[in-house]
Amino acid sequence: MLRNKKILLGITGGIAAYKCAQLVRLFIKAGAEVKVVMTPSATQFVTPETLSVLSKNPVVSDFFEKPTHEWNNHVHLAEWADLFVIAPATANTLAKFTSGVCDNMVMACYLSARSKVFIAPAMDLDMYKHPTTKENLKKLEGFGNIIIPAETGELASGLTGEGRMAEPENIVSFIEKYLSSGLPFSGKKVLVNAGPTYEAIDPVRFIGNRSSGKTGVLLADEFCDQGAEVTLILGPSSHKPKNASVKVINIETAEEMFNNCVEVFKSVDIAVLSAAVADYKPKEASGSKIKKSNTEINLELTKTKDILGELGKQKSKQVLIGFALETENAIEYAKEKIKKKNLDLIVVNTTSESNPAFGSDFNTVSIIDKHNKLVNFEFKSKADIAKDIIEAIKVFMAKK
Ligand code: CTP
Repeated sequence: MLRNKKILLGITGGIAAYKCAQLVRLFIKAGAEVKVVMTPSATQFVTPETLSVLSKNPVVSDFFEKPTHEWNNHVHLAEWADLFVIAPATANTLAKFTSGVCDNMVMACYLSARSKVFIAPAMDLDMYKHPTTKENLKKLEGFGNIIIPAETGELASGLTGEGRMAEPENIVSFIEKYLSSGLPFSGKKVLVNAGPTYEAIDPVRFIGNRSSGKTGVLLADEFCDQGAEVTLILGPSSHKPKNASVKVINIETAEEMFNNCVEVFKSVDIAVLSAAVADYKPKEASGSKIKKSNTEINLELTKTKDILGELGKQKSKQVLIGFALETENAIEYAKEKIKKKNLDLIVVNTTSESNPAFGSDFNTVSIIDKHNKLVNFEFKSKADIAKDIIEAIKVFMAKK
């Protein structure tokens, strides 16, 4: 949700300012770009140097740079930002925001901001419940700002009560939730599985396949960008989602993939099974490395469990999407799979020498729904394919 967002973080002079080091890290981890502006008193609680290193950007705390006397352009900073987050916002800052006092860079950026402004107040409990503070918070909300409520706990004064700045993790999830509301998949939980599985022959060897997991990871990111809460169950893959809020469960075997998918499926609205799960595994994996001998060796294989088939049986209200990789009679086989596995949609991949499904950033797919409606897509990037698949799911769900 915060991927590629430009966040201006305004830090004012409260003890919670020290938590902003963590807040900057979390924003960066979520894929955002961060610039920090501080009030002079905030620099007594956390150093601009720390925040500059973490944000990888210069930190501004004065109207003029020393010793060059260069003007720090607050208008440019405010215009740059997609989001302006003020954390911690002291009682003093809240009062200045309501009256328009402009005696430091944070105030100047606030008054110049065209973006959404999130304010995370932090102060002692009596200050927080003071009618003046309450009135100021109400006024600020009335101006269109979003207040991230203070939390309850131990305060710097030694007292316990409401007034602590929301924890950095909670600030991030508050903002993510706010941004996702109104998006197409807001409030929806999605399961995506991706990648190959590895089935052990012995401690050093396995049966695997050429799947990179790329399409599934792109699907997880795209769902997340469109507001969904995503769990990605990922086999061995070098790809990782860019959105930090995608919950990743790393697995290795078909059995682990099965157990995790069955568990997560119970609580989701949509499940997309793009993983290339092994259909067979060695009947017994050797506990020690199999030594070379002059004779042939035979591996006895046994079938793995069909995850998609199992989810099809368990399906209640979920929308279930499977993949089919075929080399011939693709559409015919895929239609059979829709019925056999109780699917809502199936994404059909074909693979050939000129159009390999694995190891390429491009592919050609078709999507069929359970009413046999077929859409053929052009040869395109896997990122665009992920968007097409999600669009098809949206269309299907709108008609449901
Ligand atoms: N799949 C699964 N569990 C397995 C094998 C496959 O959930 N043990 C899922 C894949 O994630 C994919 C779909 O089944 O969504 C189709 O996989 P595919 O290999 O094309 O078809 P199969 O059902 O395995 O049948 P076949 O290989 O005979 O075509």
